[in-house]
Amino acid sequence: MANPKSADPGEEISPEHQKYADSKQQQMESGAAYRGDRGQYMKSGRQQKEEEKTAKKAARPAGPPLSRREFLNYAWGAALGIVLVEAGVATYLFALPRFKEGEFGGTFPLGTGTSMPPIDAPPVRNLEGQFWLSNDTDGVRALYRVCTHLGCLYEWKDQTFRFECPCHGSKFVKDGQYIEGPAPRSLDQFKMQKLVNGQVVDETTTGGQALTVDPNAEYVVDTGVVIKGQSV
Ligand code: FES
Repeated sequence: MANPKSADPGEEISPEHQKYADSKQQQMESGAAYRGDRGQYMKSGRQQKEEEKTAKKAARPAGPPLSRREFLNYAWGAALGIVLVEAGVATYLFALPRFKEGEFGGTFPLGTGTSMPPIDAPPVRNLEGQFWLSNDTDGVRALYRVCTHLGCLYEWKDQTFRFECPCHGSKFVKDGQYIEGPAPRSLDQFKMQKLVNGQVVDETTTGGQALTVDPNAEYVVDTGVVIKGQSV
């Protein structure tokens, strides 16, 4: 019998020789090591582990197939979970403030009562908050800067000591009450809060009353809440 390891090129190869050569090639490609002492190719450690894993998987008994009822229960459970997660995210986002402090639409801390304009002084304009801070014997108010007629920006006139709209001549006293002109109501105002030790002790209601000035209290204007002026 010809030695299978010593076939020369051009020499005719017997079927046994060909089978041996194919087997050797296959073993070399799979990374197995030749163990001459045992006369065979041994599998590498990784190869053995993979084969064991595959065998275990194949030996594991397959579970019974899902019934229609079970499938529907799982589907409903998954759908309910998704809805609950979406509702939670929506609630969280809704609870977040939409405007930053000091940004129109948000809150404007004004400091304590000592920083309010004097009772007999003209109102003070706040450009970022779009309001006039007006103080009189009743207390302070934050008057929205926009005319209640067609939305022009009215101005304070020191000469007449009142608000006058340059567009169609509507006029209002210092606390925002209507005097004359085509405006259908007194000036609108923003909600204000009065806080003592961080607790709200008073705030503007729908009636639009002023908040009394306490030098130790803090005042905050909420430009996200507009209180309509009284109709004329
Ligand atoms: S917009 Fe002010 S009076 Fe018309």
